Amino acid sequence: MTAAPPPTRLRSGHASETAHLTARARAADAVVEPGRRLLGDTYAHLFVTVAPPADSAEALERLTRLDRAHGGFLAEILLRQRYFEDLVALAVDAGVRQVLLLGAGYDTTALRLTAAEGVRFFEVDHPATQAVKLRTLAGAGLRTDHVTPVPLDFTTGAPLGDTLAAHGFDGTAPCVVGWLGVTYFLPGTACRATFGDLAAAVAPGSLLLFDYLDRSVVDGTSRYGGALEMARQVAVQGEPYVNGLTPDTAAALARAAGFEPLERLRVPDLVRRYGGERPYCCDDDFMGLVAARREGEGRDD
Ligand SMILES: C[S@@+](CC[C@H](N)C(=O)[O-])C[C@H]1O[C@@H](n2cnc3c(N)ncnc32)[C@H](O)[C@@H]1O
Repeated sequence: MTAAPPPTRLRSGHASETAHLTARARAADAVVEPGRRLLGDTYAHLFVTVAPPADSAEALERLTRLDRAHGGFLAEILLRQRYFEDLVALAVDAGVRQVLLLGAGYDTTALRLTAAEGVRFFEVDHPATQAVKLRTLAGAGLRTDHVTPVPLDFTTGAPLGDTLAAHGFDGTAPCVVGWLGVTYFLPGTACRATFGDLAAAVAPGSLLLFDYLDRSVVDGTSRYGGALEMARQVAVQGEPYVNGLTPDTAAALARAAGFEPLERLRVPDLVRRYGGERPYCCDDDFMGLVAARREGEGRDD
């Protein structure tokens, strides 16, 4: 008889520690001097339980230490968000008024884009992480009337479309979807099912951005030692990487669900595009992003 797998951190009711790690990186980046800063997430510090760096030099010291140990993650965490925000801006300019975040964690796009009149955010996340986010936002006294939290565990088979509709999401109007930092934590079946549910839930013309982690990091054959070490650490914390993809299998998954890939980028592409002249993080190449469009006929209005 095989032993049952240990309960994951989220299933035991604890908020995601990887979401916290991401917020820590973004909070430190926000202290880096203008010109070298990669993202500038001015709200990330709210979610961080360690003291933020005092100044740019300390921030750079912390960030480069993390980058030396686990090169590639920092670039991906900070720059996937830059890409996403560009995509949201394009979609909003084109008239899209719904942004959907799957596995939102401590993402603060909604707080920083409040100027975009009439844009509604739907933030789907595991209830354990979402509860901490909501408490933190309330404690900071921030107005989030334009954000609808949608608690959902992607591994339970709960219907994403029905749950979104019950929270006021309009499945007939196009949206832009960010599914960032999540696919590698979901078993393959739950990941595929979520692609399918998402395709059924959103209108044709909707845009999706998701990221993936190389299969070689999950199966332990990656040549990037820092990535393997991170895989070991997150497993110890109870959030193991369980689902690795390749650029081709990631695109194929999207296509099979009805999302046509528009652009595929790897970490070096992100660093070239957004890293500036002297990026403080390296571009170890074991993760990627796919931007895709929901196929099908849109509405005629
Ligand atoms: C690394 S964080 C990424 C957060 C955010 N998207 C970002 O880029 O900062 C992973 C997120 O996935 C969520 N998550 C992981 N497994 C999940 C599941 N089974 N159902 C719902 N959310 C899940 C966690 O709660 C967490 O918010």
